[in-house]
Amino acid sequence: MNWGKRADMVVHGDDPFNAEPPRAVLAGKSLTSLDAFYVRNHGPVPELDASAWRLRVDGLVEGELELSLGELRSRFVQHEVVATLQCAGNRRAGFLSVRDIPGEAPWGPGATGTAVWSGVRLTDVLAGAGLRESAEHVAFLGADVSEEPDPPQAFGASIPRHKATADEVMLAWAINGEPLPAVHGAPVRLVVPGYVGARSVKWLERITAQAEPSANFFQAETYRLLPAEAEPDAIAPGDGVALGAVAVNADILAPDDGATVAPGPARVSGYAFAGDDRRIVRVDVSTDGGWSWRQADLLDQQGPWTWRLWEAEVEVAAETAEIVARAWDSAAAAQPESAAHLWNPKGYVNNAWARVAVSADRRAAGGVRTTSPGRRGRA
Ligand code: MTE
Repeated sequence: MNWGKRADMVVHGDDPFNAEPPRAVLAGKSLTSLDAFYVRNHGPVPELDASAWRLRVDGLVEGELELSLGELRSRFVQHEVVATLQCAGNRRAGFLSVRDIPGEAPWGPGATGTAVWSGVRLTDVLAGAGLRESAEHVAFLGADVSEEPDPPQAFGASIPRHKATADEVMLAWAINGEPLPAVHGAPVRLVVPGYVGARSVKWLERITAQAEPSANFFQAETYRLLPAEAEPDAIAPGDGVALGAVAVNADILAPDDGATVAPGPARVSGYAFAGDDRRIVRVDVSTDGGWSWRQADLLDQQGPWTWRLWEAEVEVAAETAEIVARAWDSAAAAQPESAAHLWNPKGYVNNAWARVAVSADRRAAGGVRTTSPGRRGRA
C-alpha cells in the first residue's frame, strides 16, 4: 500500500510506512503536493473513525475538556499556517560513510515538505481549558502504537509552554486544502512549525499540561542528540539533549546527485530552512569545494515558518566533480562543513554542507543531461 503517494517515492519501509520524494520532485516548488509529502511513521497507521474521535485535554488545567471534531471546529476560531515540516533524520544518508547507523533509515534530503495546514490554534484550546501557571510543558499522545520501545508504546512528545502557547502551533485537520489523510494523522494532528517533525504528533488523542517534559519513549529516549561515543543500547531516559528548534540546514535539489552537466553556466537550486524564530539570510554555492563561493538568489517565501527556496548560476568546468552549498541564518549560524564532526548514534541533525556529485560532459548540451539515483553515504 503506498498511501496515495507518487510511484517514484523512495520507500524506506512498508510497515511502518516511511517514504520520501526524490530531489527532482521537491525542486522549485514552494508548496509540496500531498502525493509527494514525505511520511515518517514509527508504527502502523491507525485508521480512526472521525465521528467517534475525541480529544482529551487534561493535567494542569482549570477544567478538563473532551472535544469531538465538531466541537473543535465550532468552539474555536479556524486558522491556517504555511509551515515546513522537517524530520530530525533528514539527510541521515550523509552520515553513513562516517559510520553505520544500524536500524535507522538512510533518509536523503526529502524528509521535509511545506504545506498549508488548517485547523485551530493549540493556544486557544489550552486557554479554553485554562492552563495553570505550573504547566511548564504540554505533552501529546497519538493513537498509534509503536513496537520500537519495549514494551510497545503510543507515540508521544512534548513542547515547552512558550512554544505551546505560540500562535503558529496548530491542531490541523486539513493539508493544502484537503482533509488530512490517514497516513498524515487524520482526523487531527499537531503541527509545531520550526521544531523537528517528531514533535508534530499525528492521530492526536490527548493533550496533557504538566510540570515536566513528556516521559514518552519518543521524547525521553529518542529524538535526542547524543554524543558520538554514546552506546545506543545503553541509553537511559533523559540522556542527551531533546531536539526542538530545527538547526540551519539546506540541500541541493537540482542538479541531481550523480547528474551529468554540460560545462559552462549551470543552474543550481535547492531549499534552506532554519527553525523557530530564525530566518534564512544567505545561501552560498561553490564548485571548488568551498574555496570560493557565489551567493544564491533567495526566492519568495510563503510565510515565516517555511523553507526558503534558492537558486544560483554557477560555472561548471571540465574538472568540476561536486557542487556544494551552505546556508546562513539570522543568528549568523552557518552549516558546518563536514558530517564527520556531527555524526551521532541515532543519526539526527545532519546539517553539514549540501553536496551533489556531478560530471561535466560536453555532450550534455542544454544543461543537465542524465540523472542517476542519489548516491548514499557521502559525508
Ligand atoms: N506522530 C505519531 N503519532 N506517530 C509517528 O510515528 N512521527 C513523527 C511525527 N508525528 C510520528 C508522529 C515524525 S518523526 C515526523 S518527522 C512527522 O510526524 C512526520 O509527519 P508526516 O508523516 O506527516 O510527514
